[in-house]
Amino acid sequence: MSAPRKLFVKTYGCQMNVYDSERMTEALGGEGYVTTDRAEDADMILLNTCHIREKAAEKVYSELGRMRALKDANPDLKIGVAGCVAQAEGEEIMRRAPMVDLVVGPQSYHRLPAMDRAVRGGAKALDTDFPDDDKFDTLKARTKMKRAPAAFLTVQEGCDKFCAFCVVPYTRGSEVSRPADRVMREARELVDAGVAEITLLGQNVNAYHGHDAGLAGLIWDLSAIDGLKRIRFTTSHPNDMDDALIEAHGTCDKLMPYLHLPVQSGSDRILKAMNRKHTAESYLKLVDRIRAARPDIMLSSDFIVGFPGETEEDFEATLELIRKVEFGQAYSFKYSTRPGTPAAEKPQMPEDVMAERLSRLQALLTQQQRKIQDDMVGRTVGVLFEKPGRIDGQMIGKSDYLHAVYADAPADVLGQVRQVRITVAGTNSLGGELVR
Ligand code: SAH
Ligand code: SF4
Ligand code: F3S
Repeated sequence: MSAPRKLFVKTYGCQMNVYDSERMTEALGGEGYVTTDRAEDADMILLNTCHIREKAAEKVYSELGRMRALKDANPDLKIGVAGCVAQAEGEEIMRRAPMVDLVVGPQSYHRLPAMDRAVRGGAKALDTDFPDDDKFDTLKARTKMKRAPAAFLTVQEGCDKFCAFCVVPYTRGSEVSRPADRVMREARELVDAGVAEITLLGQNVNAYHGHDAGLAGLIWDLSAIDGLKRIRFTTSHPNDMDDALIEAHGTCDKLMPYLHLPVQSGSDRILKAMNRKHTAESYLKLVDRIRAARPDIMLSSDFIVGFPGETEEDFEATLELIRKVEFGQAYSFKYSTRPGTPAAEKPQMPEDVMAERLSRLQALLTQQQRKIQDDMVGRTVGVLFEKPGRIDGQMIGKSDYLHAVYADAPADVLGQVRQVRITVAGTNSLGGELVR
């Protein structure tokens, strides 16, 4: 038998790409590939790319530039580009980077095995269709190999919201939900392989309609799986937080007290220009309802500064909203002009204004995050231990609130949720001791 071919996958972008990379790796496993973490050893390199901001998209071309030397050293090496840049710029990639053999979009990667065979035969392969056949029907069951304790599971893809700044509706297509019975089957496969925590993924995960009772219905069904200890979901849109989902945060023990609920801006004028279809006030009211159901919930958000036309007053309104909510975690970005989106047509803000606002915004968010972390000291929380730490005898895991937590613990805590009393708060993690 010939030696197995080696696959090197590099993943950019959001958690959905992390999930897709796993599925692509499994699909190519059937073609005799094993993974390697050294690009130099690979017979196939797959870049799973992100198009959300200009910097993310440009990274692909610089990465491809670096890979030219590998291709010169190994003429049999095949290079593939997957993900959202593949979808948005597939033909341009083939033109700009002739060493690319294969381009595959996020909705067509179940066709990778056939594409691999084509490129092995010396052809080029490009597939950026939004095919009628469901990729999940073609992809095989999840691997039975022992897995890490926390896993992602995509349940919904695509977006129909068309925020004025965003490429996702174009790169991922319209909203599609996977039927609940398929999700349940995959969840059981994951739990059988050692998974204790599942994060349900979707670009608009709370618009999930593959279950009669929506995402909350799916969460309740999942919570009946023995061995599954924790459930999370991301990313949700404020307009799709229905009553049942809010209530589940208060009543479903396995649903963790953490919610990523992007608001983008605190100015109604900007929210309108962004086509977000909610106001600052409706967001704040929603936060109140969620906190009424689950008072200790940790909230996180995404923010964009410097959206076209954002005045100092608009920006102040964002700071004001942040002060009111108190976020435990947040991601913030300078607005990035994306070709083909409505906001790209508007006059753009000067770079220095965006940079200055971003640093003020981040200073406030960091201060809030720090305070919330400091307040954890002395409290006891559940921690799912995921891996050994760098220091001997130390184990690292995630708290119910998604903090990184380290503690001295025996190796057999891996994969278990244990109670930990927090003793120190650092910038990015908490330290504690096992109580039982
Ligand atoms: N579906 C999710 C987020 C998808 S993209 C949602 O609706 O919230 C993740 C984040 O990237 C967005 O929340 C937004 O803050 C940021 N983002 C998207 N397009 C951007 C752009 N053109 N410039 C800067 N940030 C952007
Ligand atoms: Fe993009 Fe808006 Fe859809 Fe989120 S809801 S993916 S930000 S268009
Ligand atoms: Fe990026 Fe596509 Fe995710 S653009 S953020 S990889 S959906």
